[in-house]
Amino acid sequence: MKVLVTGGAGYIGSHTAIELLGAGHEPTLLDDFSNSSPGVLKALRVVANRDVRCVQADIRDGERLDAVFAAGRFDAVVHFAALKSVSESTAEPLRYYETNVAGTATVLQAMARHAVKTIVFSSSATVYGASAAMPLTEDSPLAPSNPYGRSKQMAEQMLRDVHDADPQWRISILRYFNPVGAHPSGHLGEAPLQAAPNLLPVIAQVAAGRRERLEVYGDDYPTRDGTCIRDYVHVLDIARGHVDALAHLNAGAHFAVHNLGTGHGHSVLDVVRAFKQASGRRVPFRIVGRRPGDVPASYADARRANDELGWRATHGLPRMCEDAWRWQSSHPNGFDA
Ligand code: NAD
Ligand code: WQD
Repeated sequence: MKVLVTGGAGYIGSHTAIELLGAGHEPTLLDDFSNSSPGVLKALRVVANRDVRCVQADIRDGERLDAVFAAGRFDAVVHFAALKSVSESTAEPLRYYETNVAGTATVLQAMARHAVKTIVFSSSATVYGASAAMPLTEDSPLAPSNPYGRSKQMAEQMLRDVHDADPQWRISILRYFNPVGAHPSGHLGEAPLQAAPNLLPVIAQVAAGRRERLEVYGDDYPTRDGTCIRDYVHVLDIARGHVDALAHLNAGAHFAVHNLGTGHGHSVLDVVRAFKQASGRRVPFRIVGRRPGDVPASYADARRANDELGWRATHGLPRMCEDAWRWQSSHPNGFDA
């Protein structure tokens, strides 16, 4: 399939481009490089051993999208482009609704104008309510607690409405848990331009000596060691989920929602231990107060993705940490220009 990958220069998009190529698809990346750098294209060329097409465009620009669709004759879209910082979304909600909700509407309108009606959409486990029982199934109640999560829930609702109005649409919504790790080649990894306060990149910087220590946000949660539990999942497994979702739509599915997680939770201290082991470095930390908005535990029931997509996470926490460390230690400043 010819696949337009919005946000394709980003962390998950770039790994998905490699998986799409590996499955015989032809990806074209579209990105405004607001949170990624064109240097990723060189890295993709090395890993894929061929050029990967990329156009610089903003998903909010419908006219520009028209030109891209007219030239590309795509069969499907994988829609990653979005803003993704929870704290920033609380401070600047309108930017988040503009890109994540209105931007998604602009992409869908352009698709409709060009009769491309197959889309895989990046959603997030953040759409689930804080009080939902674990593990989270796709039917767990939705009650996001911040504007970022609400923007993803609104986009999901919009996709449902589009499908209800025109059942020719084929729509796959993937709710990722905590994507981490990097490509095993060491050439691709997480290199955001905006500060990313996620656990794995912070630990990697501490191990590399670029930060003095990790601050662990609370050890008084009702969990086995008092620190929060999350479902960390290797970015390559997440990437492969998009190939599987496209195959599912091609096989006749019309509207589907799937969790992408391992089904296993790890505490913050589990991750610190695994990273020390993988890197052979010290990871000093100190316990500080809770971070507002954190839930004690979040992990997936991933059975539906296994049953319907044939997808399952294949890499465990040690491998996630090894790959994250290989990337961090070889690319401390992200991609070469
Ligand atoms: P990322 O920031 O690395 O990638 C997003 C890409 O979209 C970036 O390259 C950015 O430059 C681009 N972009 C942003 N606004 C754009 C616009 N207006 N027009 C064109 N391009 C634009 O983030 P990621 O981690 O790869 O996330 C990809 C998707 O997955 C996002 O939709 C995110 O909300 C979702 N998601 C991410 C996580 C996570 O923890 N990384 C978890 C759940 C869901
Ligand atoms: C993981 C755990 C922290 C940093 C976020 C978004 C979610 C999704 C994935 C996009 C938590 C603890 C962290 C640190 C710490 N993204 N921590 N010290 O919050 O589960 O999810 O990223 O959709 O929407 O909310 O991920 O990596 O920030 O935190 O103790 O310096 O690590 O408290 O328990 P989170 P995270």
